[in-house]
Amino acid sequence: MKKVLVTGGAGYVGSHTVKELVKNGYDVLVVDNLETGHRKLVDHRAKLEVADLADKEKLKSIFEKYIPEAVIDFAAYLAVGESMEEPEKYFQNNVANFINLLDAMNEVGCKLLIKSSSAAVYGNPTKESDIPWQEDFTECYRPEKSALLSGNWQGKKIAGEEFFQCFLDHYNSIYADRPELKLSSDEIIKLRIPMSIYGVTKLLDEIVMKKYDEFCGLKSIVLRYFNVCGADPSGGIGEAKPKPTTLMTLAIWQILGRVPELSIFGDDYSTSDGSGVRDYIHPSDLATGHIKALKFLVKNNKSDIFNLGTGTSSSVFEVISAVEKASGGKVKYTIKPRRSGDPAISISDPRKAEKVLNWKAKYNLRDMAETAWKWEINNSKIKIQKSK
Ligand SMILES: NC(=O)c1ccc[n+]([C@@H]2O[C@H](COP(=O)([O-])OP(=O)(O)OC[C@H]3O[C@@H](n4cnc5c(N)ncnc54)[C@H](O)[C@@H]3O)[C@@H](O)[C@H]2O)c1
Repeated sequence: MKKVLVTGGAGYVGSHTVKELVKNGYDVLVVDNLETGHRKLVDHRAKLEVADLADKEKLKSIFEKYIPEAVIDFAAYLAVGESMEEPEKYFQNNVANFINLLDAMNEVGCKLLIKSSSAAVYGNPTKESDIPWQEDFTECYRPEKSALLSGNWQGKKIAGEEFFQCFLDHYNSIYADRPELKLSSDEIIKLRIPMSIYGVTKLLDEIVMKKYDEFCGLKSIVLRYFNVCGADPSGGIGEAKPKPTTLMTLAIWQILGRVPELSIFGDDYSTSDGSGVRDYIHPSDLATGHIKALKFLVKNNKSDIFNLGTGTSSSVFEVISAVEKASGGKVKYTIKPRRSGDPAISISDPRKAEKVLNWKAKYNLRDMAETAWKWEINNSKIKIQKSK
């Protein structure tokens, strides 16, 4: 197994995985439209094809020319808040374009896929024992109503079941002539678990992958990442989104004066210091996780789902303190009310990936802060050019 096509490989997590792939001797073709990615982030040993997954003809010709043995898919939109305001845009990129990718793979007989998913598929814990999240939560929990918070559907603010139905009707109308993509009643109930359209698109992708396994034998591994932060220790690649949404990057941007102040949503949770608690994971650990998943898939030819997290937790104040230590600066913040839909705690149970893939995260919060700071300082010097 040598030839791997990586979608979204010019982005944050993708560029770290591309670096690890070429280091391990893989022949890598990155397919990226450079909307949030950058040419500069792609390792010089990999090839880059600038293309959009919406362009079915171009995608087909890329696959026919390159004929990859496996695909790793990172291309998606991932801003939770934006997904509630522009759900059709998220449907198009995260679901419809993903189905284009699966069709292009199937047409050339490429039947191995590794796919980025997210802790957003888990929604809100229903009871204390749901945390740490285990992969089979989405196989067991069947809510009566959708957990979707309020959002915008064609100019109308709606929430919950009504919002969910609009999204579902959209999927059903687009794929009305594809019976193999029809959702079962159990799959529809399962899709009610996430609280955001972003989470729904990720869970829907997982369901669609299962369908491709059933109707054309396309085997896939889903990797559900927790909160990604940090950068490659070299300082050469890192998060370079035009509008970062992650806490650590925003804290660093505040110190660098790129944002006036940091908002902390809630300091009255029942956690050790009152702020929200999350499982933070370094992109280089995710990169090794992808290599292990790829090797597992090639060897076993069997679809599966894994959490990629550390299984440990850090509070918002601990992240801020780690950034202050790494930078020597002081983060200016204000406390705001809790955001609806933010659980107090979200932590992964990574034992399945440890046991089955022999993968374990090695970077801690201090490493994440130090590498992220190093990247931001280098990045401000590099001044990445948009290549489009
Ligand atoms: N960053 C996180 O905290 C996080 C957490 C959980 C899951 N994920 C998942 O990881 C994946 C990568 O996230 P990231 O943080 O690296 O984001 P990113 O925006 O840095 O990378 C996404 C890349 O995909 C490209 N892309 C997007 N749509 C495309 C299209 N239609 N055609 C071609 N290229 C396209 C972008 O240009 C970009 O290079 C996403 O699927 C995301 O849902 C990320």
